[in-house]
Amino acid sequence: TTIYLKDYKPFGFEVTSVALTFDLHPNATRVKSRIAFAPKPDAGGKIFLHGENLTLVSARIDGEPVQPEITTEGLTCPVPDAPFVWEAEVEIDPANNTALEGLYMSNGMYCTQCEAEGFRKITYYPDRPDVMSVFTVTINGPHPVLLSNGNPVDASDGHAEWHDPWPKPAYLFALVAGDLVAHSDRFTTRSGRAVDLNLYVRPGDEGKCAFGMQALKDSMRWDEDVYGREYDLDVFNIVAVDDFNMGAMENKGLNIFNSSAVLASPETATDNNFERIEAIIAHEYFHNWTGNRITCRDWFQLCLKEGLTVFRDSQFTSDMRSAPVKRISDVIDLRARQFPEDQGPLAHPVRPESFQEINNFYTATVYEKGAEVIGMLRRLVGAQGYDKALSLYFDRHDGQACTIEDWLKVFEDATGRDLAQFKRWYSQAGTPTVTVRDAWYSGTYILTFTQDLKPSATTPDPQPQVIPIVTGLLSRSGEELVPSQVLELTETSQSFTFEGLPERPIPSVLRGFSAPVVLHREMPEEHQAFLLAHDTDPFNRWEAGRELARASLLAMIRDGAKPDQRYLDGMHAVMAEDGLDPAYRALMLGLPAQSDLARTLHDMGEVPDPAAIWTASETLRDALAERLSDVLPGLHEAHQVREDYQPNAEQSGRRSLANATLSLLARLEGPARAQAQYDAADNMTQQLAALAVLLREKAGDNALHAFENQWSHDRLVMDKWFGLQVMQAAPDAVAATAQKLTEHADFNWKNPNRFRSVLGAMASHHAGFHHDSGAAYTLLADWLIKLDPVNPQTTARMCAVFQTWKRYDEGRQAMIAAELDRILALPELSRDTTEMLTRIRGT
Ligand code: ARG
Ligand code: ZN
Repeated sequence: TTIYLKDYKPFGFEVTSVALTFDLHPNATRVKSRIAFAPKPDAGGKIFLHGENLTLVSARIDGEPVQPEITTEGLTCPVPDAPFVWEAEVEIDPANNTALEGLYMSNGMYCTQCEAEGFRKITYYPDRPDVMSVFTVTINGPHPVLLSNGNPVDASDGHAEWHDPWPKPAYLFALVAGDLVAHSDRFTTRSGRAVDLNLYVRPGDEGKCAFGMQALKDSMRWDEDVYGREYDLDVFNIVAVDDFNMGAMENKGLNIFNSSAVLASPETATDNNFERIEAIIAHEYFHNWTGNRITCRDWFQLCLKEGLTVFRDSQFTSDMRSAPVKRISDVIDLRARQFPEDQGPLAHPVRPESFQEINNFYTATVYEKGAEVIGMLRRLVGAQGYDKALSLYFDRHDGQACTIEDWLKVFEDATGRDLAQFKRWYSQAGTPTVTVRDAWYSGTYILTFTQDLKPSATTPDPQPQVIPIVTGLLSRSGEELVPSQVLELTETSQSFTFEGLPERPIPSVLRGFSAPVVLHREMPEEHQAFLLAHDTDPFNRWEAGRELARASLLAMIRDGAKPDQRYLDGMHAVMAEDGLDPAYRALMLGLPAQSDLARTLHDMGEVPDPAAIWTASETLRDALAERLSDVLPGLHEAHQVREDYQPNAEQSGRRSLANATLSLLARLEGPARAQAQYDAADNMTQQLAALAVLLREKAGDNALHAFENQWSHDRLVMDKWFGLQVMQAAPDAVAATAQKLTEHADFNWKNPNRFRSVLGAMASHHAGFHHDSGAAYTLLADWLIKLDPVNPQTTARMCAVFQTWKRYDEGRQAMIAAELDRILALPELSRDTTEMLTRIRGT
């Protein structure tokens, strides 16, 4: 069944309090609930409570036994038309809960994941975000650590009580029990509240906590400084679990993290891991205000909390590290994950209007495009307008479950700006294409933009959106003739005129990637070479290099052209600029993703050939290595880090440039230098980068064995070992490599991290996944079939890798269609996977 935004109806009852008691047992946990309900005027004499996979032991209303009518989705029961107390006892089976939703077990510990609709697998309840209440939780169980939301009120052996004074929806409920150890610290809020901070981990992981804890304290301080938001409980707990479907979860006062998103030490985690952990800790912490204190009225409004919180965590990372590097990384990610979604069969608006399974809508569109939309809003109203609007948002809506209408109204009231057209960013699916042309008439310079949005299933009749295009004009000698300004494109086609310029300028358009669009520049390619050398906007300077690389690759693929000399020379000049941030230069050395090239070719009306894209990319990298051969050894040497390892931006930037040069150098001189780095490495960044080069050079067998021996005890490191072999395999070996790894004794496929490390890596290897044998399609389908009955969420998420299938040739399409149909034919296929594959398959 499909659920529609337009059908929203408020719940008929207030929930005035909730008391839960858990008697923990792996296969027979008893959950007693005592819930006070107050009917609203139109309650209608009966109540519906969600509940799934529950065994009802008893139910009472005001102490009298009742016999509710029970279905697979919940229960219905006649109720008084005055306030009443519902009491129920249910039994659940956490040990056999492999879906990792509700209360489940991971390595002997109990934990929960309730967002979006997992609480109904714990007890009967109105499991919807607009029902907010105060929770008291009692836990009985033979475990040293017993945790829930809020503040601890009582604890003794095998018993704990928690009280959360802040009304919250059930999706923010959490419980953890197990044999855990705490890494503890303290934070004093600016109004003087002392907060106990704990990071709970399994014994043995104590050494991987310090960084996450520092990130938490930095996040708490930053949210006070930048958003004026203080923490509001006496404790803040984070727990790391190995089996988790996503990155992490912002449960009130008790965040639960995939261990890969919080545990780190220099020996076991890479610089990228550290940066990601810092961002996720911040993200979950920031949810305390944007998500928890102000939550969503219904799940269609998911971007209200996710878009905003991603935007906030990206601001945080920009402040902690390098803003241009963060912006470039986010755009790379947007193009890799969100553009395919927006431009394929899974396209949906940032605020969807219908769904079957909400778990399928925790997407790059809701999260990342949702954050881009807020970035645009901030540009349009200005930083001050944004700050004013956010203060009003927190004042007006604290304690409420809100909508995008509430959010936009706050901006309209705070800034006086009409946001009717802006709202289309929330309701229209698809990536707009913006085309820019320029003209010059004796002193007058004109930029003309047109926007175009392709109709899609959810947006059949697209209307023009307001697109903020940050633009600057440069002189031929590289001076800024007209500094950055926001051009607001509101029409389908619109011109902007600049008078009184001394010469025809070179335009730098869409600086900072000021809107999530595909930009076509109808301008000479020399402009890009010029901007690569001279643009004062770091994003567009990087983008110019990207565009030259893209154009060169397309010409190589389509016309058998040679690598473009302007690109190679431009890169040479950039690498020689010692003043440029090493992290930024390392990003410059990257090429457009091969899947992104496939998308571009498809846009041009061509059928992409993954093998040809692979070959062109390899050829261009070889040519780049050749062209840079005189500077690579010096760059590699100059950026070695000889101080003690620190995962900060400065050191990790140097390592990333050194490792990018190491990789290019190996194309010229073979694997010796990488082997030496592998042998000397004392941190995972250096070790893994060297191993990647060795594998690519087919000289990695010894290191691979050594790595396995060294790290077989460490799951997170072994995930890297599994993944890297697939990622570095040649296209014709990808499926076989993945297949072999699934037979490894440590391939625990029920663990989502391990499953993704092999099969996710296979699907992200563009030429390997789309190898014309079709072997990878079949292998993935086999594993999706196996995983679906065990873990529908992770299965459904992985299905998205097929979303681009219609770009490819008929042979590949036929092979993929056969696999999709094979899965869809399964009689018991989950709702999650059915929805995903039906949308992808289309008609
Ligand atoms: N709210 C969590 C976060 O953004 C993610 C929860 C994902 N839930 C899901 N069912 N996919 O940090
Ligand atoms: Zn989130």
